Amino acid sequence: MPGSGESEIVLIPLDEPELARLLEAAVADADPLEVMPPVDGPAGWNDARREAFLAFHRRRSLNPDTAIETTWLIEVDGNPAGAARLRPVSGQAAMEVEAGVWLSRSMRGRGIGKRVAEVLMEAARDGGAARFVATTTVDNTAARRLLSGAGAELDVHGADVDARLEL
Ligand SMILES: CC(C)(COP(=O)(O)OP(=O)(O)OC[C@H]1O[C@@H](n2cnc3c(N)ncnc32)[C@H](O)[C@@H]1OP(=O)(O)O)[C@@H](O)C(=O)NCCC(=O)NCCS
Repeated sequence: MPGSGESEIVLIPLDEPELARLLEAAVADADPLEVMPPVDGPAGWNDARREAFLAFHRRRSLNPDTAIETTWLIEVDGNPAGAARLRPVSGQAAMEVEAGVWLSRSMRGRGIGKRVAEVLMEAARDGGAARFVATTTVDNTAARRLLSGAGAELDVHGADVDARLEL
């Protein structure tokens, strides 16, 4: 499998055209449960899940009245390949941001997640954040290794893992 070293990775702020490309990437090469909250009904990318995916990102990122986070389309060599997001967490003494990333299946395990995480941490620092947090599960080895490799402290409780990195 090729590494990410030769690939051009660009993070593009999400807007309606990029959201359409993001849905295309998700449908082509990701499971709905990896990229959005569960929707009742039979598995797979049916119309209800596609609509829920669009509504999820419109509500959380695109609609100024309801937005709580910034989302970027991850483009690898010109092709949509996943999403990255940063959500400021309110009520913390130090300004904290919660991060999330998903990649198309065929893009995983090539070092792309690591490079995207570096860009997110830089964006968080530039935005004045003092702490970077993320949540994953014990069985998500790639996410755990990515976070610990970036220097985050991992706190395991049951099946869940909270990661925390002072910026
Ligand atoms: C989690 C995710 C973003 C990681 O990105 P990635 O590009 O696959 O990860 P990288 O190739 O940059 O590798 C990061 C680390 O994980 C390791 N890794 C990657 N895939 C792995 C796998 N399948 N099994 C074990 N380790 C793995 C790498 O070796 C690397 O560790 P190292 O630096 O100690 O060698 C990606 O796998 C993904 O999109 N998964 C599905 C969605 C998801 O789980 N998102 C995160 C929710 S918190």
